[in-house]
Amino acid sequence: MDSAPLLEARNVTRRFGALVAVDDVSFSIVSGQVFGIAGPNGSGKSTLFNVMTGIPFGPSSGEVLLSGRPIHHLRPHQISRAGVLRTFQKDAEFTTLSAFENVYTSAVYCAGIGSGEARSLAAQALDDVELPPSRRGKAASELSVFERKQLMIASAIAGRPKVLLLDEPAAGLTKPEVAGLSALIRTVRGRGITIVLIEHVLPLLLGVSEHLMVLNYGRIIASGSPRDVVRDPKVVEAYLGSREVVL
Ligand SMILES: Nc1ncnc2c1ncn2[C@@H]1O[C@H](COP(=O)(O)OP(=O)(O)O)[C@@H](O)[C@H]1O
Ligand SMILES: [Mg+2]
Repeated sequence: MDSAPLLEARNVTRRFGALVAVDDVSFSIVSGQVFGIAGPNGSGKSTLFNVMTGIPFGPSSGEVLLSGRPIHHLRPHQISRAGVLRTFQKDAEFTTLSAFENVYTSAVYCAGIGSGEARSLAAQALDDVELPPSRRGKAASELSVFERKQLMIASAIAGRPKVLLLDEPAAGLTKPEVAGLSALIRTVRGRGITIVLIEHVLPLLLGVSEHLMVLNYGRIIASGSPRDVVRDPKVVEAYLGSREVVL
């Protein structure tokens, strides 16, 4: 495996007035890795995804690099076409479009390809996530919670990312569904896509991540192998009193 970083953040900071939501964060992600990010609510995880994708804003200072090239000054669509795609914490599908049309739209706009190629890319992505053909013509709003996750992942794959940023994809899922999502994430990885995963559901996060970084108040408080990081006293302390995560 190529060990040069695929995606890198260098001293990335994002301010909102006096609040420093992301504070001097640096890390590098190797191609093919699943890179996990944890941290209490409000610790800056989603803001970090925002600044890495330019959606809706870039960093206040610092650099983001893809394969060694700066991308933080690019427009959001240029960043996605360069190969960095994200999903959102809230459902972001077009509810009145069918599942197929959603994935097709992603192929056209994110991968930037013509309609014929986009159709086959969309069909392949829906096969990859195993959304049954009988469900692909349904409006996205008619899909179950898990089917919408399949749709989210298929739309992401169809955008042909090099790196996919997933923001709490397990939200709203039952335990068996979380296992299904874990299999989906492995499928994405099997397509050669590097994954950055923000997740509160620790069995999922620890089950798929090769590297774990923990944020608190916008700063990195631990980063390394998941086994070591969850035992780090700073991490345990950051989570004390937190309802949603038990380490
Ligand atoms: N657009 C914004 N304007 C002002 N403050 C923001 C904005 N986005 C996030 N914040 C603040 O930045 C901090 C980090 O938020 P966020 O990145 O959403 O945390 P997390 O995803 O870890 O829960 C929070 O204090 C939040 O209120
Ligand atoms: Mg968040």
